[in-house]
Amino acid sequence: TKEEMETRVQAIKERLGNKLYIPGHHYQKDEVIQFADDTGDSLKLAQLSAENHEAAYIVFCGVHFMAETADILTKDTQKVILPDMRAGCSMADMADIYQTERAWSELQNVFGDTILPLTYVNSTAAIKSFVGRRGGATVTSSNAEHMVTWAFTQKERILFLPDQHLGRNTAFNLGVPLEKMAVWDPISNTLQYEGNLEDVKVILWKGHCSVHENFTIHNIADIRTSNPDMKIIVHPECKREVVELSDLAGSTNYIIQQIEASPAGSAWAIGTEMNLVNRIIQDHPDKQIVSLNPHMCPCLTMNRIDLPHLLWALESIEQGELHNVIKVEAEIAEYAKLALTRMLDQS
Ligand code: 13P
Ligand code: SF4
Repeated sequence: TKEEMETRVQAIKERLGNKLYIPGHHYQKDEVIQFADDTGDSLKLAQLSAENHEAAYIVFCGVHFMAETADILTKDTQKVILPDMRAGCSMADMADIYQTERAWSELQNVFGDTILPLTYVNSTAAIKSFVGRRGGATVTSSNAEHMVTWAFTQKERILFLPDQHLGRNTAFNLGVPLEKMAVWDPISNTLQYEGNLEDVKVILWKGHCSVHENFTIHNIADIRTSNPDMKIIVHPECKREVVELSDLAGSTNYIIQQIEASPAGSAWAIGTEMNLVNRIIQDHPDKQIVSLNPHMCPCLTMNRIDLPHLLWALESIEQGELHNVIKVEAEIAEYAKLALTRMLDQS
């Protein structure tokens, strides 16, 4: 039963003590997050990994790219375990290293050495490494504006991988007009742009988050009609038109903080992942909170980490047969770490 599994997880946690560390992303299920030693958004989880805690086993409750980042930022002797290898990220899967190398060589032909690559942490270690080798950095939704500002002190243009929406929303907030943003389509290998190429400031990789894409301007119109006093807050992985019509946009942490800071009786519609929205609703019974999309929007891959998988991963540690260890090759890790450190040093 669920109770038996919970008791077994708790007992293993007690037996392993500080040899074990369980970080959990805010989008994880309640049945898993209750056992997390720390919870956070992507930036906080990367910062915690870099903080040099001594745990021999890090059981990462999040998705594959986050576990890779934890491996890159921790010591070689520490083992990072992902409880289910199918917990990927459909956005990270929209850019592979071969597509990136091909795009880069085409873009160099067009723009010469004027581009700095930036990658959202939601990307493979190989792409982080590619970016790190070329002087670029990673970004998260919490520090994207700062990192894009920094990138423009380095080069005239940026290539932003793999989330076109975070890239577009961030550059737009910094004053780059939409007419100066081109889109690189990795499927057709083409640069989509209508104007004079010399004007391009930002090249957006044509990727997106399949969860945040489900929030639409129709959802916004419905809320504005049914509940005109409700504030709408969304994650910047939502499309530009959705962010434009919302009241506020920001990372997972920003959303949590804004709602916590609002007075009792406040009304909110939230455009982000379902597990987090449900948790915020439970944590604030004094506020009226709904999902911006009434059908809710789960992240299927985050949800693959469930109580049975967590228990299995922990039992395998005690049995001395580690499974699902995430190990990034040393050569890739070196430059991926450089890209991550450039971000962490500025955050
Ligand atoms: P943050 O944790 O940066 O808010 O990103 C959300 C997300 O989609 C993680 O996969
Ligand atoms: Fe990837 Fe979106 Fe799921 Fe985050 S919410 S892990 S970006 S698919």
